[in-house]
Amino acid sequence: KFDKDTVITVFGASGDLAKKKTFPALFGLFREGYLDPSTKIFGYARSELTKEDLKARIVPHLKNATSEKVEAFFEMVEYVHGAYDKDEGYLKLKKAIEAVEARSWIDEPHRLFYFALPPSVFLSVAQKIKELVYSKTGKTRVIVEKPFGHDLASARALQASLAPLFKEEEIFRIDHYLGKELVKNLLVLRFGNTFLNSTWNKESVQSIQISFKEPFGTEGRGGYFDNIGIIRDVMQNHLLQVLTLLTMERPASFDPESVRDEKVKVLKCMAPIDLDDILIGQYGKSEDGTKPAYLDDETVKPGSKCITFASMAFKIQNERWEGVPVVMRAGKALNEGKVEIRMQFKSVASGVFADIPNNELIIRIQPNEAVYVKFNAKVPGLSKETQVTDLDLTYSKRYQNFWIPEAYEVLIRDALMGDHSNFVRDDELDVSWSLFTPLLEYLEGPNAPQPEIYPYGSRGPKGLMNYLANHKYYIDLEKRKYSWPVT
Ligand code: BG6
Repeated sequence: KFDKDTVITVFGASGDLAKKKTFPALFGLFREGYLDPSTKIFGYARSELTKEDLKARIVPHLKNATSEKVEAFFEMVEYVHGAYDKDEGYLKLKKAIEAVEARSWIDEPHRLFYFALPPSVFLSVAQKIKELVYSKTGKTRVIVEKPFGHDLASARALQASLAPLFKEEEIFRIDHYLGKELVKNLLVLRFGNTFLNSTWNKESVQSIQISFKEPFGTEGRGGYFDNIGIIRDVMQNHLLQVLTLLTMERPASFDPESVRDEKVKVLKCMAPIDLDDILIGQYGKSEDGTKPAYLDDETVKPGSKCITFASMAFKIQNERWEGVPVVMRAGKALNEGKVEIRMQFKSVASGVFADIPNNELIIRIQPNEAVYVKFNAKVPGLSKETQVTDLDLTYSKRYQNFWIPEAYEVLIRDALMGDHSNFVRDDELDVSWSLFTPLLEYLEGPNAPQPEIYPYGSRGPKGLMNYLANHKYYIDLEKRKYSWPVT
C-alpha cells in the first residue's frame, strides 16, 4: 500500500548521516520494491551542490547497486540548497513539492521530512517546515534523529519547543536499534513462545546482560564524542530500548501505543542507577602501541575524563524481576565488535546435577544474528559425562535466502506507513532521561571519578569480570564439567 507521489525531504543531505544511512536506506527500499516509483526525494542542505555532486557522495555507500538501479533511483532525487533559518530555500522546496503533488492531482499529499541534522539547527528547521512546507490538507511526518536533548532538562525543553509545531503522531523519533532484526524479533520470541515466556522471570532467570562492544575508537569523531560519552551515544538510547523490550510486560494488543505503554511502564519500575555500582573506562593506546589512545585525538579536550566504556546495573522493581541484576555494558575500542543479550538461568536444585552448568539464552543482535541456548546434554554413547551444547538458530544458516533489511530501511518504511511501534514516544524519552541524568551529572560534575584506562583492543577495564560475577553472572560455565557417579 503506497501513497502515490509521496515526497521525502532529507535535511542535512550533504552530511555524513544522510550519505551513509538515510540515502542508502531509501535506495535499499527502492531496490527491493518498497518505494513506489512515483516517490520524489529532495535532498536539502546549505552546500551549493549539484545533483551530480550529491550522487557522487552517496553512491559509494549503496549496497547491491547495479548501475541500472542506481540510475533509476537518482531519477527520483533532486537537490535543493538553502539556509536552514531563511525562507528562501524553503520556498523553493515548497514550489518543487507542489509541482510533484500536482502531477496526479492528489488531494491528500504525503510529506515526510527527515532530519539528518545537528542539534544546533534542529529547531529552526522544524519551525520553517511548519511555517512554509507543512501540508495543511494531507499528512506531514517528521523523522528526527538523536540526540533528543543532552539531559532531562534539555530534552524537556526540546520537546516543549517541538510540541506546538507537530502533533506526537507526526513525530517519528528514530532509534535505529529498534529496526534491527533481532530487536524486532524480541516481541515474538517472548510472547509467541510459551516455553520461553514461562521462564522469563525471577523464578528462572539469575542475571541478564546486555552488552555492546565495538572494535574501533572514536577515530574522526572525537570532537563530537567528547561532549557525549558512551552513555549518551549508545546506552541511554539503543541499549535501553533493547532492555525495555526484553523486560516489559505483554502488550494488550499490537497497537503501537500498547507496546509503547508497556515500555514506559517497565522504565518507571527501574530503581535509580546506583552511582557506587558502576565501572567506567577510557581507552588508552593499544598494547603494541599501534592504535591511539582516546586522548591522542586532537579534537578531544586535553585531559578529558570522557568515558568510552561503562558498565552499570539496573534493578527492576516489579514482581517479574525483583532481585534479578540487569547489567548493561558498552565500550569502544575493545577486542571485538558484538552486540548481544545474555540471560543466564538459575542453577538446578541441589541433589542430582547440582553442579551442572547453568543454561544460558543468547540473542546476538550483531554480527551474524542468532538466538541460541546453551543447555546440557549427555555425551553420546556410553559416556557418563554431560556436555554443554547449543540449541542454535543462526540466521545465516537457517534463512539463507532471506533479505534482512538494514535498520534504517525498516524504520523509514515504518514511518512511510505511519507505524509508530518502533519509534520512541515523548514520555518514554522523559523517563529514560530521568533515569540517566543523575549518573551523567555525577560523571561530568566537579567530583567526577577518573575513568580506568584500558588498552585499545582489550576487553575493557580490569575489574569487568569481577563486576559481572558480583551481579550473578558466571563466566566460566563452559569449563565446568559434570559427570554423574558410576554405580
Ligand atoms: C550510533 C552511535 O548511534 O550507533 C555510534 O553514535 C555507534 O557511535 C552506532 O557506533 C552503533 O550502531 P550500529 O548499528 O553500528 O551497531
